[in-house]
Amino acid sequence: MTAIVATCVAIGLIAYMLTTSSGNPDASAESTPNNQGDKVEERLPKSVSPVEYRLKIIPHLEDGNFTSSGELWITMEFKETTNKIVLNAREITFHQVEIVSLAKDIAVTNVTVKNDSELVIVRVNKLLRKGESHKLYIRFSGILNDVLQGFYRSSYVDSATNETRWTATTQFSPTYARRAFPCFDEPSFKARFRISLGRRENMTSISNMPLKSTQDMPNMPHFVWDHYQPSLPMSTYLVAFIVTDFDNVQVKDSSQPVFRLWSRHDVIDQTEYMSKIGPSMLRFLEGYFKIPFPLDKQDIVALPDFGYNAMENWGLITFRESAMLVNEKEAVAEARQNVASVAGHELAHQWFGNLVTPAWWSDLWLKEGFATFFGNMAVNHVEPTWRMTDSLIQDLHDVLVGDALESSHPISVGLNHTDQITQIFDSISYIKGCSIIRMMHHFLGAEVFRMGIQRYLRTYSYRNAEQDVLWEALTYEARLSENPVTYITVKNVMDTWTLQTGYPVLQVQRNYKTGTVTVFQERFCWAIAGCQDSTESWWIPLTWTTQSNPRYNDTMPKAWLWNPTLELNDTVPDDQWILFNLGQTGYYRVNYDDRNWKQLAQSFETLPPVIRSQLIDDSLAASRAGNLRYKIAIDLISRLENETDFLVWNAALNQLEYIHDKMHDDADYNKFMLRLGRKIFETIGTVEKQNDGHRERRWRGKIMKWACIVGHEECRQRAHQFLKNWIEMPPAKENPIPANLRSWVYCTGLKHGGKSEWNFLWNQYLKTTSGSEKTVLLEALGCITDDAILLSYLEKSISKSSGVRKQDGWWVFRSVAGNPIGKDIAFRFLRENWVALNEYYGSGFSAVAKMVTALPRYMNSETDLKELETFKDSVKLGVTSTAFEQAIEQVKINEAWTTNYKKQIQDILKEI
Ligand SMILES: *[C@@H]1O[C@H](CO)[C@@H](O)[C@H](O)[C@H]1NC(C)=O
Ligand SMILES: *[C@@H]1O[C@H](CO)[C@@H](O)[C@H](O)[C@H]1NC(C)=O
Ligand SMILES: *[C@@H]1O[C@H](CO)[C@@H](O)[C@H](O)[C@H]1NC(C)=O
Ligand SMILES: *[C@@H]1O[C@H](CO)[C@@H](O)[C@H](O)[C@H]1NC(C)=O
Ligand SMILES: *[C@@H]1O[C@H](CO)[C@@H](O)[C@H](O)[C@H]1NC(C)=O
Ligand SMILES: *[C@@H]1O[C@H](CO)[C@@H](O)[C@H](O)[C@H]1NC(C)=O
Ligand SMILES: *[C@@H]1O[C@H](CO)[C@@H](O)[C@H](O)[C@H]1NC(C)=O
Ligand SMILES: [Zn+2]
Repeated sequence: MTAIVATCVAIGLIAYMLTTSSGNPDASAESTPNNQGDKVEERLPKSVSPVEYRLKIIPHLEDGNFTSSGELWITMEFKETTNKIVLNAREITFHQVEIVSLAKDIAVTNVTVKNDSELVIVRVNKLLRKGESHKLYIRFSGILNDVLQGFYRSSYVDSATNETRWTATTQFSPTYARRAFPCFDEPSFKARFRISLGRRENMTSISNMPLKSTQDMPNMPHFVWDHYQPSLPMSTYLVAFIVTDFDNVQVKDSSQPVFRLWSRHDVIDQTEYMSKIGPSMLRFLEGYFKIPFPLDKQDIVALPDFGYNAMENWGLITFRESAMLVNEKEAVAEARQNVASVAGHELAHQWFGNLVTPAWWSDLWLKEGFATFFGNMAVNHVEPTWRMTDSLIQDLHDVLVGDALESSHPISVGLNHTDQITQIFDSISYIKGCSIIRMMHHFLGAEVFRMGIQRYLRTYSYRNAEQDVLWEALTYEARLSENPVTYITVKNVMDTWTLQTGYPVLQVQRNYKTGTVTVFQERFCWAIAGCQDSTESWWIPLTWTTQSNPRYNDTMPKAWLWNPTLELNDTVPDDQWILFNLGQTGYYRVNYDDRNWKQLAQSFETLPPVIRSQLIDDSLAASRAGNLRYKIAIDLISRLENETDFLVWNAALNQLEYIHDKMHDDADYNKFMLRLGRKIFETIGTVEKQNDGHRERRWRGKIMKWACIVGHEECRQRAHQFLKNWIEMPPAKENPIPANLRSWVYCTGLKHGGKSEWNFLWNQYLKTTSGSEKTVLLEALGCITDDAILLSYLEKSISKSSGVRKQDGWWVFRSVAGNPIGKDIAFRFLRENWVALNEYYGSGFSAVAKMVTALPRYMNSETDLKELETFKDSVKLGVTSTAFEQAIEQVKINEAWTTNYKKQIQDILKEI
């Protein structure tokens, strides 16, 4: 899936300061609150294994009925002798349960539904023997809920008729197939699915497989059954079906598989971009993996209500509208890149996840990390000018921030409750996963890596895998090509990255007299006192180069660091710098002694952009963690006065945001930032130019938003003018503000505007049919400084009739919490509406957890900390437990930082 937690390849990372976007392409919801953190989820016994499901199901969308009726025949193999069949179900009503095997005398004696553990236990009157096969028949009904999980309902208003149209659709990952029909709902129980969907004759249905036949429904005039071909063996979380009145277009020239794009009629013309890139990304991936896509068709559907960015259901990928549709007339570069990245991610899942599936959710990263990594590669193939490697580095910088919390978690993690499964759809699984794969790609070399990946996919097709078998496949290929990592084995190296929390910083110490260089490792944490009780050690691939003969592309390790310290064989003359972790391909930070930092700063302009961005990121991080004097880091970033590369600016703004949040009203700070940015502000300007590339278009708005924040006068006037022009135009006219500049213009305009501007933009939000424009507006509407408006805005996030869809509600909260004026209002709103919010959103796509995560940004004091802790102790945590733990740690760090460094930085800036 592509969650919306942190940015996965996708969205710009200046994120919090500039835009507030955050797009982990997969995230999900729930009707009965499921917030008991102490609920123990029971795993299914392995005694019974499903082979085939025959499912007939019909959603009742008429007259507000919103239930479903189904019949199910499950063919099971018995691996052990038992009189008990245990499977999963949630909010399912059982009408009839029987064994319908040839042996006629087997009777069901008892059906027990255990709501807490989402299990149903079927007991029979005699022992079913190991090796036997039996068929279980179940007639049931379910609920078409409105929390975007399981089999759920979604609606939209058709513009031509002004009618509300209903669609029934599914989201089963990770554990919601059981809300649609009883099943063995764990990824290791792969089976074939033969699905029949009932529908009204004027609707359409879609499922994973191609349609086989359609048949009138007996006794139900105007209703039919659509029978689908049997699926390949697959996990329950990948099953999908939709009954809808959507339009579709078939992509020309996509002979195998056939690509069909679906959306509601009003926006079907926005599928064109997807039709261009989808088939060619799929073909690229087939070529890389050397395994053809096994289905005859690939349906791609844009849904008006969708909790995540997208979901990779085999042969039927579902998206939220803003992650799939591109309005060519208003082409926003950012949105286009998001669409490509999410699509690449989901297509890569067709192999990583669908063909080879993690055995359990603990190894979620085995599909999410790889989908992110190969998705990026596929986008690079179709959009070679976008510099997609830059996105990997931006994502890396982003995740290194979160992963330096002591309350972070290992990539591969033991999971005990359903609530925990939901919580690991986070940036650690997606982006740290992707980043350590990138590290392997470099230390193994592209060819060994590719052969190892092919071997892994080939060997485990239609099966399940754990990370150890991936390490074996990679080690095997490394041996064949005599790769130096062989003597350590990929497993020894990678276990240190996947089983331990956090990551190391490489401390470099030089002896300038003898020329020797010593490195040592320790865990990197934000806590100024360092990480508590940290004894971890990582296998670190060491790459380095020196000033006299710089070879920045040498990303094969020259040595490995495992012991705490190592002295290099190379010596370096005292007047030259040494640089480690080339291309920032390793998942670690580097910190040098003061003199080497100064030498690097001297050469700053001569280094490649990737290295410049790395130095900015590592130095500011080292200072923030108390490992490097701020004077050194600030001297280094003063070099940005001449900087015009976006990657470097992204790194700077990503780190400076932390300082900014605490010093945004400090005059010297703003003066310093204005001086740093003068050149980039002038270079990029406030006007779109004819010959701008994708990157300029994508970055201009972000840079200008920041310019306005630090007080650039012309920037503010331009934004104000843009917005005023639009407001004063006759209502029927199209928005004159270039799409790429809107986020900046709206937010700045509102910050210096009032109720009338806010109402104007709110009405635009209600009017627009573009998903990405809606997102931009939602983010901007929280920029206003009026308390009453901010509160009424928050209230819209919890109201069905406000026009804010449930899938988008948390953007409202984040937008308000991300405004220094709004943060107290947001916190109060969360406290006062905790129960209602949890009921409204449920636990699925972590909306409430994301709200908690948005809180600590401006919380810097003891009082803030106490309030947050008191609040945490007073509520049921459920899926928000990790979010609270991390938020509290963050406030502690903020408080310590403010006490220790704020004054120091003010003093440094006074002297500059
Ligand atoms: C919904 O429709 C089904 C099928 O027509 C019917 O059996 C059921 O009673 C209806 N439920 C409600 C709540 O109307
Ligand atoms: C079914 O089993 C449960 C648990 O063992 C028991 O509580 C219940 O009374 C049984 N129901 C019937 C109808 O036998
Ligand atoms: C569409 O329907 C809504 C609700 O029934 C109504 O308020 C609105 O005026 C209608 N709009 C148009 C353009 O007919
Ligand atoms: C399908 O037919 C039903 C019953 O005539 C009608 O209520 C509904 O609006 C129709 N749906 C579409 C999409 O035309
Ligand atoms: C799950 O339980 C195991 C064993 O008790 C424990 O080591 C692990 O940390 C738990 N996982 C989580 C995410 O709490
Ligand atoms: C290093 O890599 C960059 C980017 O891939 C490339 O442009 C450059 O030519 C390479 N330099 C050398 C010396 O290979
Ligand atoms: C240093 O050189 C020795 C002898 O050639 C070699 O065994 C060792 O691995 C080298 N160490 C490093 C860190 O390169
Ligand atoms: Zn995914």
